[in-house]
Amino acid sequence: MCRQNKGSIEPLVIGTVVKECDEGIEEGILLCSSQACLSEFPIIDGIPIIVPNLRAYVSGNTHAILKRNDLSDTMESLIGDCCGPGSEFDTQRQHLSIYNQAHFSDLQAASEGTDLLPGNAKSAMKTLVDSTTSNLAIPNGPILDIGCATGRGTFEWTQKTNDLVLGIDLNFSFLRTANKALTQGFISYPKRRCGLVYDYHKIDLGGFSETSKADFWACDALNLPFCDNQFDLATSYNIIDTTQSPFDCIQQMHRVLKPDGLAILTTPYDWTGHVTPVTSWIGGHSQRCTSGGDPEKRLRELLCQQQDYQFTILEEGTGQPWTLHLHDRCLTQYLVHWFRLQKKAVTDDCSSTGN
Ligand SMILES: C[S@@+](CC[C@H](N)C(=O)[O-])C[C@H]1O[C@@H](n2cnc3c(N)ncnc32)[C@H](O)[C@@H]1O
Repeated sequence: MCRQNKGSIEPLVIGTVVKECDEGIEEGILLCSSQACLSEFPIIDGIPIIVPNLRAYVSGNTHAILKRNDLSDTMESLIGDCCGPGSEFDTQRQHLSIYNQAHFSDLQAASEGTDLLPGNAKSAMKTLVDSTTSNLAIPNGPILDIGCATGRGTFEWTQKTNDLVLGIDLNFSFLRTANKALTQGFISYPKRRCGLVYDYHKIDLGGFSETSKADFWACDALNLPFCDNQFDLATSYNIIDTTQSPFDCIQQMHRVLKPDGLAILTTPYDWTGHVTPVTSWIGGHSQRCTSGGDPEKRLRELLCQQQDYQFTILEEGTGQPWTLHLHDRCLTQYLVHWFRLQKKAVTDDCSSTGN
């Protein structure tokens, strides 16, 4: 808030520690160090919530923040039936099913020595991280996973770097699942079978030996609470079309990267008017203009031809599959456009070596 409103950089300090565990502060309050501000940012269940409008975030997310985790699967199922389709409970459970399934179901098949079950896809995160590290030298410095959801990309990066990997998202249920995995070594989640019927899964994350390097924070990709030039690598997998302002999302990612820092950006350009105003879509409208509404061309321009920030496109490709399991008889597959990028000085030329 201080950076946005006054242009001043004020570090956060630990104000109150209510509860601690081996991994750090489980419950407490961070404070803005400016005496004129002293804004509070809570840490709940080990997750710092560092967003510009805390009142709006907490009041809009009370369901997720206050959700208890001690009820049996039987009781969750009964509550799900009572709340019914379209309820907050139902929406949250469906999202947990979709993203945990997309991120972790391949690990279950691997641990059971079976082929991928129908409806389970190899994690797109793993594919992207593996192909990046086999093509580029990854600098040893902090990594930011923007829109990390339940954290598979963050976990994958901990295996490839000696430094810290921070996953940020605004979905508190996702962050809680990811954060619990750090302390417990497994992911547990409801997998949607059909309608309001869910099976509860537990997937061992023992293969990730470096999870102490990871952390998960609630932060807004459109207003990242970091100084400029902090991260060596930033990822933005399939998030720009889920925000109000794809442009701000890209600009913020650029801002927090160190000079020459690397970025990976993927998107299926799956625009919806209730999330992103049409005027902020990248392509996907006004097909009568010279670009014909082509999102790929427009995104390249947004990445490379801005006055106040620019990336170099190191590599790009289109058609990387990203599969989401909606229920046992319904999969959605996106073909995402992906980029490997490097932050560059604004005066250089912008070149693409991609296909
Ligand atoms: C389509 S999902 C992609 C998740 C994950 N990166 C993946 O590819 O599986 C978009 C994610 O971005 C998060 N998100 C949307 N807007 C955000 C914002 N302004 N700040 C941080 N996260 C955001 C959502 O909560 C969600 O987890």
